[in-house]
Amino acid sequence: MSNKTYRIGLVGCGGMGRHHLKSIESVPNGDCVALCDVFEENLKKTGEQYGIESQFTDFEKMYREADLDLVVVATQTRGHHAPAMAAARHGINILCEKPISIDPAEADEMVAAARAAGVKFSINQQNHVNAFTIKTQELIAGGLIGDVVLVRGRNKAGRKSGNEFMEMGTHITDMMMCMAGPPAWVSGTVFVDNRLAGIGDIMEAKEMSPKDRDSGLVLGHRVLAQYGFENGISGEIHFLPFAKRNNRNYGFDVIGTEGQLAVRATEYGENGPILWHLDRPMEGYPSDLNWKPVEADGITIEEPIITMYKKMFKAIETGTEPPSSGAEGMLALEMILGIYESHRQNGARVNLPMAERSHPLERWRAEER
Ligand SMILES: NC(=O)c1ccc[n+]([C@@H]2O[C@H](COP(=O)([O-])OP(=O)(O)OC[C@H]3O[C@@H](n4cnc5c(N)ncnc54)[C@H](O)[C@@H]3O)[C@@H](O)[C@H]2O)c1
Repeated sequence: MSNKTYRIGLVGCGGMGRHHLKSIESVPNGDCVALCDVFEENLKKTGEQYGIESQFTDFEKMYREADLDLVVVATQTRGHHAPAMAAARHGINILCEKPISIDPAEADEMVAAARAAGVKFSINQQNHVNAFTIKTQELIAGGLIGDVVLVRGRNKAGRKSGNEFMEMGTHITDMMMCMAGPPAWVSGTVFVDNRLAGIGDIMEAKEMSPKDRDSGLVLGHRVLAQYGFENGISGEIHFLPFAKRNNRNYGFDVIGTEGQLAVRATEYGENGPILWHLDRPMEGYPSDLNWKPVEADGITIEEPIITMYKKMFKAIETGTEPPSSGAEGMLALEMILGIYESHRQNGARVNLPMAERSHPLERWRAEER
């Protein structure tokens, strides 16, 4: 790694924006030199807290004047597209919050703009580089659980699936892809209470939950879906709407021909073992369960967002793709939105990437008009 200090600008000084600033303090060659927010109160408060005097209410102006190497886009999801597209136009590398965008059409434009400009574009699905995700990949490559047969995504709950889909979904589908590679198809069913979700149940994320973020159109309280990955591995995901969030449920399972691995509570700072091993592919009776924690000895644990910055700088220096690239972020979103498309087609298998690029729920509504 070179001795260069990377000049970073932040667009969006809300909760996650400030989390980035805290993480950047531990990135040796990263320096946040400029802030942008349309809400001046957030801008000033954040500037004072982190001692950053260069402040803007217009990201175009910040891009022109602040001489940035990297911009962090930490606006809510509907607000990712405009600052990311402008950053590409200004030749600035981009670390964008998840999910990449509210629909595949916007994601396509963002990926194409970054490619055309020759800038690095990464989505902050930080568990992609979590030490336990990497350790799981290593254990699988070493043959610990034989051939991988099934990867299962696990949600946190505490939200209706419509909201949790856009807020947590792409973290989970990204981790599934880390284990199984790119997806080939999805088939899913969406429920409202105990009935199938219908067109009249489609709503904006903030209608479903006014306290949640603006992440576009959503549908349903509960979701079950299956995936086929390109290499023949199967996938499944359940988003069950239990009222209480449980971080210890969040993660993924990998089932192989000779055993299983389970990653839970991936969040940095969570106590207790994160990676578990069961030395057989099928559990048998619940009373037979004897999962063993994989000791963390020898695993370097670092907050994954710090790792994301380090790997982004390395990608810039070596001309390689950063982890959780824009193209991967787009597939992570399609694994989620493809469930809506499948549900609309009565659970049919939908090929990924989807042929139609507009939001499936928008299309469903338009067809009925
Ligand atoms: N990676 C993770 O683990 C993780 C965790 C939480 C949130 N997030 C993501 O972070 C993003 C932001 O979430 P949040 O909770 O911080 O939202 P927030 O509402 O707290 O903050 C967003 C900020 O962006 C500002 N803003 C809006 N439009 C703007 C514009 N055009 N230019 C400049 N500033 C603008 C708002 O005024 C606000 O201060 C979301 O996409 C969310 O999904 C990611």
